Amino acid sequence: MTDSSPSEATSRASTGDPADRRFVRVDFPADGRDQVALVTIDRPEALNALSFPLLAELTDALEALDGDPACRAIVLTGAGERAFAAGADIKELAEQTPVTLTVDNHFHRWERLKRLRTPLIAAVRGAALGGGCELAMVCDMIVAAEDAQFGQPEIRLGLIPGAGGTQRLTRAIGKAKAMELILTGRTLSAREADAHGLVTKVVAAEATLDEALDLAARVAAMPPLAVIAAKEAILRADELPLEAGLEFERRNFFLLFASDDQREGTTAFIEKRRPTWSGR
Ligand code: CAA
Repeated sequence: MTDSSPSEATSRASTGDPADRRFVRVDFPADGRDQVALVTIDRPEALNALSFPLLAELTDALEALDGDPACRAIVLTGAGERAFAAGADIKELAEQTPVTLTVDNHFHRWERLKRLRTPLIAAVRGAALGGGCELAMVCDMIVAAEDAQFGQPEIRLGLIPGAGGTQRLTRAIGKAKAMELILTGRTLSAREADAHGLVTKVVAAEATLDEALDLAARVAAMPPLAVIAAKEAILRADELPLEAGLEFERRNFFLLFASDDQREGTTAFIEKRRPTWSGR
């Protein structure tokens, strides 16, 4: 938590005791942006490799923020300038067997990350490789530094992506490119990633975090029920046939007419004033 944070007591209560965390830092509110949290993967000596304990802390921290109505958007980043995350922890992976992977079931955390309702923005500097690329792709938007590198190099370890890479990268950039990247382990520069639609925008390296926090603040300023409904509907686009996706969108559009914020938004427009959102 930020020491000077006015909502420190609330934040501590909702995100657990920071003293228990070794690999993840939580700042809420983040750097003067009300309603925005900053979560930092803090293992720079291993390029923020996603060990199982780290992934557990990260999932717990994000779920706690997701359950806090004061938190309207989250920025996820990696400590240092060299990596967002360089993948799963290869030293830890080297000791696994199909039995340990099945019994310990650490990978279930990836399903939990997918279910977060709060918009999640990755601020990526340096390597986002393997599980790091998969983590960036679980996020709803990616702000990439000019020095960012994306890729799924697992093939070079005799593996394939195990946390969604074959599916999400293919959906994001198409089969032909995804095949090339996953079958050769080549990485994509930030500019290439932008050209193929993998990232939201590319920014100067030193501006990455600020740009991501500003984007998060703009989302956080929107009516929260509509934000949740929009995120859910957009994510359905990858999963549902068009007809079912359109139906889902229409029902949520209709449902929002039961909200105070819908009335406030349309009334404020007609009265030519700024709306005030209640989140109801
Ligand atoms: N796991 C564990 N440690 C890692 C790591 C990883 N994924 N990536 C980097 N590190 C460690 C290195 O071992 C090294 O530690 P030491 O100083 O103790 O030796 C430190 O971080 C710095 O790394 P490098 O010396 O390799 O730095 P570099 O600048 O020469 O290279 C790099 C950077 C190209 C990112 C390189 O570190 C690299 O290729 N990392 C592995 C990338 C990778 O293969 N990721 C996929 C992992 S498998 C996976 O993610 C499966 C899945 O889908 C869930």
